[in-house]
Amino acid sequence: MTAESEVIELTLASTLKSVETAEELTTEVCSKAGFDEEEQHRIGMAVHESMINAVHHGNKNDASKQVRLRFQIYPDRLEIHIRDQGTGFDLNRIPNPLEAENLLKVSGRGIFLIRSFVDEFRVEKLEGRGTEVTLVKHKNSRKKLA
Ligand SMILES: Nc1ncnc2c1ncn2[C@@H]1O[C@H](COP(=O)(O)OP(=O)(O)OP(=O)(O)O)[C@@H](O)[C@H]1O
Ligand SMILES: [Mg+2]
Repeated sequence: MTAESEVIELTLASTLKSVETAEELTTEVCSKAGFDEEEQHRIGMAVHESMINAVHHGNKNDASKQVRLRFQIYPDRLEIHIRDQGTGFDLNRIPNPLEAENLLKVSGRGIFLIRSFVDEFRVEKLEGRGTEVTLVKHKNSRKKLA
C-alpha cells in the first residue's frame, strides 16, 4: 500500500443539499483521479447513498449534526470516507434485498448498490467520534454490475 495521497476534506451539515454537494464533488474528484465518465457516475451514486444514510440513519436528519467527507487519492485507488455522528450499525445484520421476502420492499437497497459500484465497502465505529464508512475504488478495475 502506498502512503502518499492527496487529501480533500470537508464538513457538511446533515441536509439533502449536502447530499447533492457531495455527489457533485465526487464526480469532480473522480474525474481528477482519472476515472471515466461511467465510473464517475457510479461512484457518485455510491456516495449519494452513503451520504443519505449518514444524514438519515446516522444523524437522524438533525441538520446541526455534521458529516465529514474525505477523499484520499492514491496512485492506484480512490478512498472515500464518510463520517456521521451516529452510533453505527452492523453490516452483517442488514437484510439482503435479493431474498424473496425482501424483493417487494421499497427500501434496503442503498448498501447493496454501493457494494456493486465500488470495490470495497467498510464500516467502522469510532469510539466517541461517530461512525465512518469507507468506499474504495481501484483504478483500472472494471467491476461488473450484478
Ligand atoms: N450511517 C448509518 N448509521 C446507522 N445505520 C445505518 C447507516 N447506514 C446504514 N444503516 C443501516 O443499514 C440499513 C441498510 O441501509 P441501506 O442504505 O441498504 O437501506 P435503507 O437506507 O434502509 O433504504 P434505501 O437506502 O434503499 O432507501 C439501514 O436501514 C440502517 O439500519
Ligand atoms: Mg440507504
